[in-house]
Amino acid sequence: MHITVVGSGYVGLVTAACFAELGHDVISVDVDHAKIEALKNGHVPIYEEFLPELLERHRGRRLTFTTSLQEAVKACPVIFIAVGTPASESGDADLSYVEAVALDIARFATDYKVIVEKSTVPVYTCSWIRKAISQVGMLADFDVVSNPEFLREGTAVVDFLCPDRIVVGADSERAANVLTTLYEPLTSGEYYRRPEAIARKSTGAQLILTRAKSAELIKHASNAFLAMKISFINAVATVCENVGADVQEVCTGMGTDSRIGPRFLNPGVGYGGSCFPKDLKAFRSIASDFGYDFRLLDEVMNINEDQCRRFIKKIKSVLWNLKGKRIAVLGLAFKGGTDDVRESPAIAVITELLKERCTVVAYDPAATERAKEVLPNGAIQYANDPYAAAKNADTLLILTDWEEFRGLDLKRLRAQLRHPVVIDGRNLFEPGRMAELSFEYHSIGRPTLQAITPRMANVSASAEELSFKETSGNRLSLQRQTASTDHRRIQ
Ligand code: UDX
Ligand code: UDX
Repeated sequence: MHITVVGSGYVGLVTAACFAELGHDVISVDVDHAKIEALKNGHVPIYEEFLPELLERHRGRRLTFTTSLQEAVKACPVIFIAVGTPASESGDADLSYVEAVALDIARFATDYKVIVEKSTVPVYTCSWIRKAISQVGMLADFDVVSNPEFLREGTAVVDFLCPDRIVVGADSERAANVLTTLYEPLTSGEYYRRPEAIARKSTGAQLILTRAKSAELIKHASNAFLAMKISFINAVATVCENVGADVQEVCTGMGTDSRIGPRFLNPGVGYGGSCFPKDLKAFRSIASDFGYDFRLLDEVMNINEDQCRRFIKKIKSVLWNLKGKRIAVLGLAFKGGTDDVRESPAIAVITELLKERCTVVAYDPAATERAKEVLPNGAIQYANDPYAAAKNADTLLILTDWEEFRGLDLKRLRAQLRHPVVIDGRNLFEPGRMAELSFEYHSIGRPTLQAITPRMANVSASAEELSFKETSGNRLSLQRQTASTDHRRIQ
């Protein structure tokens, strides 16, 4: 089938490349001339696993790039809209780009079109698109369908090719049949039997046919629920810190309940990215437009914003004054596996540290250039590797869950640091192991285990005399133990 995908961003480009992989002839359109030229010349503008391979396979054959929407509309009966739907001041989704594309389609189309919403849009957007097109008049017949994406950055290609479900919201059987045919290689399982398949499933993908409004809501509700699950476990982590329990043990106990499930139960410095923060605001806003005060979503957002504040407080409880301190940071991206720093908790923490006039030296496997675009010029130093970042630092923060960080040579890292103090905002390491390696290791929702270190030996002398007021107001009590091998549990 001939299809067009308008918008070659994270979602649009992955969608276009994957449809070409399924065997369709795809035209990827974007207003950004530089992006289209780069794509035509073999450049891949975003960091996404398997995307370079797919573009290499299909570029210039089943996948072409253009800035001409007119050309693409004329050539294709199916047009996916994957342009940005950023949050406006009020939190509403800004749908002006979606409307602009819809009206252009109405202007250029001369035969039947299926117009598909791929961008995350609030409920009723399908109706608005229909109305907008009818008002300007379109020579040909058309249908508007909602086909939300559930791609996660970093695993977007596999998420597209091996989806938990494909949701198609169509109010006409004709349009539903077109989308059903489009996804047939996945729903029949035929794609997974191809020798060159990038990813495989043991059974065909599930296609869920709904009315358009339900499909639009499925997307917002799914993202809101996932964000709520993260905020819930972050709130539980705070309770764990206050009572001296271990949130990872709690996660295991909760996650083994098949009604809860272990996924998206990773506590940390909060969720970020181009979707959760914006989609929660948009869902909250559209719900109140339609008379429901969805207050629960406010608390999900409040808990998330509070995670950054709590993390800064944790750093202060460890380092006391931050002014003039040298802080190493591992991770700039909003999560591991992507170069995307949009709404990144790491950037939020760094911004707060800069207000405290710390020196920040950061390392990220992929997001450094994107971070330079959002952080003030020269505000922080960028290191080429984690060990260089750690050099002479008073403490090391882990802010993004890159796999690479789990494999660090911890002894080498410890030798770089001025003080062997690690504050882990993603619970990447095991506290006992860190204590064995004589780190002072603080993490989220877990007791701090700490080996006797020269720094601590000096402190402990005074600690007996002084009682420290630690983060979250808990008193710091020390049990004196023999110096050599003891782990000191700070309650
Ligand atoms: C976008 C939406 O923001 C998100 O809500 C939705 O879930 C998926 O699509 P993303 O792909 O990450 O997310 O956006 P972005 O990376 O900003 O890409 C949007 C692309 O659309 C950009 O390349 C932009 O140049 C292009 N665009 C925008 C057009 O081609 N035409 C327009 O009128 C507006
Ligand atoms: C999300 C949705 O997962 C995806 O279905 C939708 O299409 C787009 O939005 P994405 O934003 O790429 O995808 O990332 P995701 O993996 O969901 O992580 C979002 C944020 O939550 C990241 O900052 C991540 O670090 C954080 N997170 C995720 C947690 O803090 N804990 C978890 O257990 C999971």
